[in-house]
Amino acid sequence: MSLPQHVAIIMDGNGRWAKSQGRERTHGHYHGAINIRNIAIRAKDLGIKVLTLFAFSTENWKRPDSEVSFIMDLPRVFLNQYLKELIDNDINIEFIGDWKKLPTSTVKICEDIIEKTKDNQGLKLVLALNYGSRQEIVMAVNSFITNHPHLPIDEEMLESFLYTSHLPPVDLCIRTSGEKRLSNFLLWQLAYSELVFCPLHWPEFTENDFEKTINEYEKRHRRFGGL
Ligand code: IPE
Ligand code: IPE
Ligand code: MG
Repeated sequence: MSLPQHVAIIMDGNGRWAKSQGRERTHGHYHGAINIRNIAIRAKDLGIKVLTLFAFSTENWKRPDSEVSFIMDLPRVFLNQYLKELIDNDINIEFIGDWKKLPTSTVKICEDIIEKTKDNQGLKLVLALNYGSRQEIVMAVNSFITNHPHLPIDEEMLESFLYTSHLPPVDLCIRTSGEKRLSNFLLWQLAYSELVFCPLHWPEFTENDFEKTINEYEKRHRRFGGL
């Protein structure tokens, strides 16, 4: 099978990785953010078109305030360290989820990242921030009702109101850290995606591990209900 066009990753295991190093959970989040740079550049070099990364879920607000604040500051840290390099690699960055409800300072940084990378034509890097799939589907249905109050909804219409409406279908979804669940990520979009669950924690998942997963995908046979 050919290269996946759109790969999604549930970047899990930052906290457990940090614990294994005898460090605080935030240390794992910092190294996890750095790893985004490595994987994005390899994805672009491989010729993948879209990489969607689950960075913060609508359920992650349940965590201690100190951990949430640290994560909310990561876009700024990431921008300072890597934005120039990502621009040089022709990477275009956007966000999905209810990210405009994040702290104002985080929203500003995200808007800055979008603006500075908007003309890039290489890999599209989509960061899911304050994203929840059930909330997304409810939002899509409500937008549909507002726009078409007298029509019944169909699949195509619903898809056109999802955050991902402009993106190609997700071919492959990877979850690191050994957990085997979706945790409210892209429930609609993953209906026919290939799934790979990798035991490595996100900060230790290297470019080569990523490439091995892509090779595994290439060996799979997708049938979409046919033969
Ligand atoms: C993923 O790593 C990052 C976020 C959910 C923000 P975790 O923080 O969930 O790390 P573990 O799963 O507790 O090890
Ligand atoms: C999913 O990981 C969310 C992100 C990776 C951002 P979680 O660590 O929040 O998922 P659960 O709680 O183990 O299901
Ligand atoms: Mg986790």
